[in-house]
Amino acid sequence: MDWGMKNRLSRIIKPRTGHTVMLAVDHGYFLGPTRKLEDPRVTITPLIPHADALMVTRGVLRSSVNPGSNIPVVLRVSGGTSIIGENLANEGITTSMEEAMRLNVSAVALSIFVGTPYEKQTLMNLSELVNQGEEHGIPVLAVTAVGKELGKRDARYLSLCCRIASELGAHIVKTYYCDGFEKVVDSCPSPIVIAGGPKLETEMDAFKMTYDAIETGAVGVDMGRNIWQNPNPIAMIKAVRSIVHKKHTPKEGFDVFEREKAKRKKKKKK
Ligand code: R5P
Repeated sequence: MDWGMKNRLSRIIKPRTGHTVMLAVDHGYFLGPTRKLEDPRVTITPLIPHADALMVTRGVLRSSVNPGSNIPVVLRVSGGTSIIGENLANEGITTSMEEAMRLNVSAVALSIFVGTPYEKQTLMNLSELVNQGEEHGIPVLAVTAVGKELGKRDARYLSLCCRIASELGAHIVKTYYCDGFEKVVDSCPSPIVIAGGPKLETEMDAFKMTYDAIETGAVGVDMGRNIWQNPNPIAMIKAVRSIVHKKHTPKEGFDVFEREKAKRKKKKKK
């Protein structure tokens, strides 16, 4: 692997711990103004100091992220569909590699939709992006998307998707946590991060999922709604960080969450 590629990857997956907490805020590219992400700048700004990387589209990057913030950017470059459209899987590449370089990104990201009528199209999108990424030293993150079919998130299906993404050259694979997750990790030569998925019932559920994913071999999380749809997003991301980087247990993560929450409440009162 070339120096530039390695350097960019190390901006995302921190060499000190070998792990990463990416903050996903790209949901608007097909969901529109998602709850608590209506004004992206308001949501993103306070969380930036606590994230290792930001997954975002070029529109929100330019409009809502301070270029001086120095946060590594994982640029979402696929899209062209919407939640009310015909088929979420029918994605194309929306953003050129030249644009990605202009934006000084650390990686580009796209979704693949294995097992759908758009399987080949999205896998070819990935292959082409990897060709360009290799040429310019820019890593590619492939998301094994399931669209509206959240029930697809099982080890057999996700192992298939992750392995194909890795075979086609993805430098990082983003998938969902599931029962038997070690099977997904063990059969995917590329590092894996997990998405959080829709907001879980309790904070502890999110901490347990994070812990179990790390324990079974994920290098980190690329989490969105479980952080910023929580009434205490900073406490949430700090707790997730403690589990990912410090190997805290879910209970220890929860203690971090409670401490941070109390600290912030006190500050507000002053
Ligand atoms: C989905 O494809 C989006 O790209 C999100 O980045 C991803 O789902 C992670 O966010 P969340 O943790 O909210 O699922």
